[in-house]
Amino acid sequence: MAWKNDQVSEEETEKIIKLAKSVLGVEGDFVEFGCYKGDTSLVLAELLHRDVMLHQKASHSSSTRAKETLSSPVENDVENHVDKVGKTCEKNVKKNGCEKHLRRLWIYDSFEGLPEKNIADESVLGVDFKEGELFVTKREVKERFLRAGLPVPVIKKAWFCDLSDGDLPEKIAFAFLDGDFYESIRDSLKLVGPRMSGGGVVIVHDYTNPALPGVKKAVDEWAKGRELEYKLVLL
Ligand SMILES: C[S@@+](CC[C@H](N)C(=O)[O-])C[C@H]1O[C@@H](n2cnc3c(N)ncnc32)[C@H](O)[C@@H]1O
Repeated sequence: MAWKNDQVSEEETEKIIKLAKSVLGVEGDFVEFGCYKGDTSLVLAELLHRDVMLHQKASHSSSTRAKETLSSPVENDVENHVDKVGKTCEKNVKKNGCEKHLRRLWIYDSFEGLPEKNIADESVLGVDFKEGELFVTKREVKERFLRAGLPVPVIKKAWFCDLSDGDLPEKIAFAFLDGDFYESIRDSLKLVGPRMSGGGVVIVHDYTNPALPGVKKAVDEWAKGRELEYKLVLL
C-alpha cells in the first residue's frame, strides 16, 4: 500500500525502502527519529510485516515437508504472532530449535511539533519550519497502524535529548533520522550511532535541504574523524 507523504518524496521513499530491504539480514531493530504522522513508519512497518510473513510461510512449508518426510511429529513452536496487532513485535518465532528474532520498529517524536530552532538552523528559506509546526498526537499515529492492520510499533513520545538507554533497542540495523533541526539530528545521531550493527544503515533526511542547514552541520560534526561501521546515507 502507498501512503501519501508530504514530508518525504516518492523518490526518497523508494530509496528508503531499498535500503531497509538491504539490511534485512543485519541484526537489530528499525528506528525512526521524527515520525510525525507516521507515513514513513507505515512503509517500514509494512516491510517488516511482510518479512515476518515470508519467514513464517517458509517455516510452515519446511515443517510440512519435514512432517511428510519423517512421518513423525516435528517440534514446531511457531506462534501466530502477526495476527495480534500490536503484540506482534514483542515475541520471537521458534521452530525446531531455531529462533528468528522478530524485528521491531521503534518510532520517536515529541508529538508536540518541532522544537525551538538553534542558530545553526537559521535560513531565510526555512521560515516555515517554526516551533510547534508538524504537530500530531501519538494516538492519531497509533490509530493509523491499527486501521492499516499493521503491528503497532514501539511509539515513544519524548524530546530526543530526554531519551535514555531503556528507550532504545540494544541493536539497530536501520535508522531513519528526520528531525529537521541541528539539535534534533545531533541528538538522534548520538543515540543511534553506538547501537548500530556493522553493515546497518543510517539515513539522514534533508542533508541537502537549504531550508534546514542545521541538518548538514550536525551530520558533518558527527562524521568528522569517525570510522563508521555502518552506511551513512544522506538524502
Ligand atoms: C519532518 S517531520 C518527520 C516526517 C516523517 N519522518 C515522515 O517521513 O513522514 C519532523 C518530526 O520530527 C519531530 N521532531 C523534531 N525534532 C525533535 C526532537 N528534538 N525531539 C522530538 N521530536 C522531534 C517533529 O515533532 C516532527 O514531527
